[in-house]
Amino acid sequence: MGKIYPSLSMEHKMAVDQVKSELRAFIIEKQCAPLMLRFAFHCAATFDMKTRTGGPFGTMRHKIEQNHAANVGLNTAVEMLEPFKQKFPLVSYGDIYMMAGIVAVESTGGPEITFHPGRLDMDAPPEEGRLPLPNHGSEQLRNVFVNTMGLTDQDIVALSGGHTLGATHKDRSGFDGPWTFNPMVFDNSYFKELIAGEKQGLVQLPSDKTLLTDPVFRPLVEKFATDQSAFFQAFAESFLKLSELGFADT
Ligand code: HEM
Repeated sequence: MGKIYPSLSMEHKMAVDQVKSELRAFIIEKQCAPLMLRFAFHCAATFDMKTRTGGPFGTMRHKIEQNHAANVGLNTAVEMLEPFKQKFPLVSYGDIYMMAGIVAVESTGGPEITFHPGRLDMDAPPEEGRLPLPNHGSEQLRNVFVNTMGLTDQDIVALSGGHTLGATHKDRSGFDGPWTFNPMVFDNSYFKELIAGEKQGLVQLPSDKTLLTDPVFRPLVEKFATDQSAFFQAFAESFLKLSELGFADT
């Protein structure tokens, strides 16, 4: 499937650039890159290619979606981003939410990620239960990412590297602690730690560990652990796809 992006007015394009630069200053000041990356992932990863529902179209602004069990804590991100929508009404929630994820990666040392604006906000939030759960293995990951969202095995491994940022929290998911010793830096240490095995003070979810045992995932984990630029390139490509699920398709 090809993409044809909407053409926007000069005023709209300038507003998008302005949002991106103000988001950058905001995310650095508030040190909230991990929250924003998880938020952007949960906004987009509800896409179902069969029904063409869910996806990065701003539906997380609705309380009902924030209240889904997998989204505990993400209401904070919605509240933090609302002033950007108020200040720049031309820019959609969908665009603002995806830019927040991109800026989170870029501002913590990760790769630059292409962004195309022009998502239209949808009113209907997706049904609950589409996001991946931490206590499952490869089969669930493929069900969600490949069979439902339409992504690939490589996208699963590359995007899982997003756990190089941030931490799990006892009061949210029941897990407790970060994946790496530098959770505010976007690099390939998630893959290095995964291969190194469990360590005091660090966390590995069952959905992370399954990347080591699956015969297709494992070689990609090894590649990304030894070659950071390969990881950065793959992550940028996969995040672009994630952020455009259901958007601008021809
Ligand atoms: C592959 C399936 C995935 C599962 C099962 C999963 C699950 C989880 C869980 C349980 C947490 C902890 C939430 C908490 O207790 O605060 C978490 C946090 C996080 N996830 Fe994922 N995740 C997945 C994929 C991803 C992807 C693809 C990204 C981004 C590209 C991502 C980005 C994050 C970030 C940045 C955090 C830390 C948030 C913070 O520090 O506040 N996750 N994830």
